[in-house]
Amino acid sequence: MFCCIWSLFGGLWSLFQVATVLVLLLTILCVAIIIRSDADILTILYERLGNKPESLAGKVVWVTGASAGIGEYLVYQLTQIGCKVIISARREEQLQKVKDACLASAKCQTKADDICILPLDVSQCDTHKDAVQTVIDKFGHIDILLNNAGRGMRGKWWEIDMKVDKDMWELNVLGTVSLTRNVLPHMMKRRQGHVAVISSTVGLVAPARCSAYSGAKHAVQGYFGNLRHEMFEYGIDVTLICPGPVHSEFQASQLTHDGNKVGRVTNPNRMSTERCAFLSLVAIANRMYESWVSTNPLLIIIYTSRYLPNLTEWFLTRRAVKIMVEREGDC
Ligand SMILES: NC(=O)c1ccc[n+]([C@@H]2O[C@H](COP(=O)([O-])OP(=O)(O)OC[C@H]3O[C@@H](n4cnc5c(N)ncnc54)[C@H](OP(=O)(O)O)[C@@H]3O)[C@@H](O)[C@H]2O)c1
Repeated sequence: MFCCIWSLFGGLWSLFQVATVLVLLLTILCVAIIIRSDADILTILYERLGNKPESLAGKVVWVTGASAGIGEYLVYQLTQIGCKVIISARREEQLQKVKDACLASAKCQTKADDICILPLDVSQCDTHKDAVQTVIDKFGHIDILLNNAGRGMRGKWWEIDMKVDKDMWELNVLGTVSLTRNVLPHMMKRRQGHVAVISSTVGLVAPARCSAYSGAKHAVQGYFGNLRHEMFEYGIDVTLICPGPVHSEFQASQLTHDGNKVGRVTNPNRMSTERCAFLSLVAIANRMYESWVSTNPLLIIIYTSRYLPNLTEWFLTRRAVKIMVEREGDC
């Protein structure tokens, strides 16, 4: 009897050892993948094995902030897969250049008439209703609203003018919410549609020296996360895309504490705009809830913040100001 129990215990112990080794190996594999990745594991898996952005061909996609940066590259890639696009931003002449560049590309699969320039200031909420009607009149419906327009800020919290706080929230949060509010009834009527928001990794963790921007992107995360749950029964998807540092006009056009532009690029170590746009479309094509699009070490910090929030906060509290000043300069 004793021998029997002893051998059963021995068997269980070996099983436990094998399981521990397997879990350890799996953890090491995951960490190795994360270190080598420029997006969260699911986005990378979808990139390899999931729906390709080409699956969006023929869709009517409205991209805000399409005159530069990530939005501009989203438009290039959407027109290369044959989407009909509405391109919006404040600078009409820049939008015209983006449209011309699309049509000049040998890869463009969208007709000139299906690239619609619609100048729009996202923070002017009272103009949104008419803008949406213009799009509905032209294309009949909107398949995907890609809320990309946004702006950042840099500065010491105690020096920031309240006007900068307001500007951050009016564009990044309220303008985005208002445009979505005007588009959603059309999607709800059709019981289909997709709202994507280019949020940020600063909407997941809160680094130093960008309080108003980080706060605004945290609000976007909460607001649109909630919207996703409420839109489920209408068959409408909501995707939050959180890029880390990306090459674009973003850094130079960030506001300083007194509302001026930073005016310079300080951290050249950024993901290419093209890659960020591509991974964003992978996330949309696979109807992901959330996608983190960032190189390391930021990606690891985001993972750690999810599973070990206090440890991450302990580290950021001691290091965040130093890291930001080293990477972005002392604004
Ligand atoms: N680049 C990064 O490192 C980074 C990282 C994380 C998240 N993001 C997010 O990615 C999005 C795109 O940024 P980006 O890097 O492409 O920056 P960008 O190169 O500065 O482009 C910003 C775009 O937004 C438009 N825009 C700004 N204010 C607007 C307004 N009031 N109404 C309408 N359009 C407006 C700009 O066009 P006009 O000036 O012509 O209006 C431009 O097309 C933003 O939401 C940003 O928060 C960027």
